[in-house]
Amino acid sequence: MKVLIVYYSMYGHIRSMAEAVKEGAGGVNDADVIICRVPETLPEEVLIKMGAQEAQKAQAHMPVCKLEDLVSADAIIFGTPTRFGNMCGQMRQFLDATGGLWSKGSLVGKVGSVFTSSATQHGGQESTILSFHITLLHHGMVIVGLPYSFAGQMRIDEITGGSPYGASTIAGGDGKRMPSENELDAARFQGRHVAEITAKLFP
Ligand SMILES: Cc1cc2nc3c(=O)[nH]c(=O)nc-3n(C[C@H](O)[C@H](O)[C@H](O)COP(=O)(O)O)c2cc1C
Repeated sequence: MKVLIVYYSMYGHIRSMAEAVKEGAGGVNDADVIICRVPETLPEEVLIKMGAQEAQKAQAHMPVCKLEDLVSADAIIFGTPTRFGNMCGQMRQFLDATGGLWSKGSLVGKVGSVFTSSATQHGGQESTILSFHITLLHHGMVIVGLPYSFAGQMRIDEITGGSPYGASTIAGGDGKRMPSENELDAARFQGRHVAEITAKLFP
């Protein structure tokens, strides 16, 4: 069983959530879990102006996703920061190149799942995940979220991401807040949950 984690992360929050998703999925027997990042679309000088240079350097070693990677996976878990309540442009551009796969039905029946991050607590995490699901449904994917059996999403004793739609983290207005233990637990749970369901679908 192959689980692919496809992500974009400008400042490292989604990257760190992606590692936790990998940990969770990797705990399931026979799961071969691979992470890749979608190609960058912004020029270097823009990334520098956005203060993203360090975080970009730190993930330079991560393999860049290719369309064929999607085809060979049984499950694909997507991670994107929110941009005005939607997925980021880098992810959109990658997905907009999947028309050829769509025409062949290459992703039909695969498991799809999404996690996200935003600067503010109510800055569009749910809309980002739910609007992402539309693309996955057009591809005929079977959507998996983060069930309430991950009880950490019910916490109100601390600020936390996480909803039935998927794991999430709150980066803060200045981007300095990194994913909390609870948010990383949610990401691990989602990874494991996706892998367990995939194992049932593709025994
Ligand atoms: C163009 C742009 C639009 C953004 N839109 C939102 C938004 O609608 N709501 C929000 O809370 N954060 C928004 N953010 C903040 C990002 O979501 C945040 O930097 C990101 O989640 C951090 O994750 P990363 O380090 O993995 O990139 C936006 C950032 C940029 C650059």
